[in-house]
Amino acid sequence: MHIAYPAPLPHGHIVQLLPDFYVVKGTARIAPGITVNRNMGIVRTGDDLLLVNPVRLRRREEERLCDLGRVRQAVRLGYYHGCDDLYYRDRFNAFFWRQPHSDHYPLPPADETLSDGGPCPVGGGRVFEFSNSNVPEAALLVPLSGGLLLTCDALQYWAGWDSCSWAGKWLLRFSGVHRGMQVSSAWRRRATPLQEDSQRWLAADFERLLQLPFIHLLGAHGDFCADRAHELVERAVASSFVRMRGATAGARRRRTQKPHPQRPPTGGEGPPGSLSAPRVVIRPQPGQRRRP
Ligand SMILES: [Fe+2]
Repeated sequence: MHIAYPAPLPHGHIVQLLPDFYVVKGTARIAPGITVNRNMGIVRTGDDLLLVNPVRLRRREEERLCDLGRVRQAVRLGYYHGCDDLYYRDRFNAFFWRQPHSDHYPLPPADETLSDGGPCPVGGGRVFEFSNSNVPEAALLVPLSGGLLLTCDALQYWAGWDSCSWAGKWLLRFSGVHRGMQVSSAWRRRATPLQEDSQRWLAADFERLLQLPFIHLLGAHGDFCADRAHELVERAVASSFVRMRGATAGARRRRTQKPHPQRPPTGGEGPPGSLSAPRVVIRPQPGQRRRP
């Protein structure tokens, strides 16, 4: 059966950011003439590669990807991403991870589901879920170089407007994106139930996120933030959520402490159908992909 995978869109080269961590800055076409930046992170463990927020590459760059190692796993961290996931699953037989309801792109099905504190695509890493979000959204803590946090839409760091068209840049600016670290205002609106206050609803999730030990960050949009990411995320959430104001000192104290895994809140604060419901999963090994 012929599958019409989306063709590669313009992108840059694979660039190394940390030992065993790389990025490709690609693009997403929102409308004719409107393109914005979209990143794929690549985590290497030995000879195995994990693609985070996958972006399909042109043939020559895909050959360079294969020179880095074997594509063994791919992970989707945000609901609105995933147009190239099926390509990588089929092309490389990649073991695929996503949250249970992260099915804006329903294919491929997950070989393993992401859940807060649950099985992780990276040894020694941690899966974080925004448990109260209206739309599935996760982050991945990778124990590299002092701690690397990989996000999708929720947290973004913008140093410039590379890979965005002129119209794309202004669309982002009008939607509230600015230079620096930020909780995406567009994502926050989608993630907050209509009847709730977006300045409060997700605060508990970000309090938990600030307990993670990271100093670097890469989102699915924007740029890589090295070394100062935790400090900048503290400021970003403090300016975004009412209940976080004045609480950053406590978070600053906690960030040097070893985090202890928390269950996401159950009931009460969570929206109906919260992703915090317990899940039972059977975990096949990478390379032993489970057929639906
Ligand atoms: Fe996005």
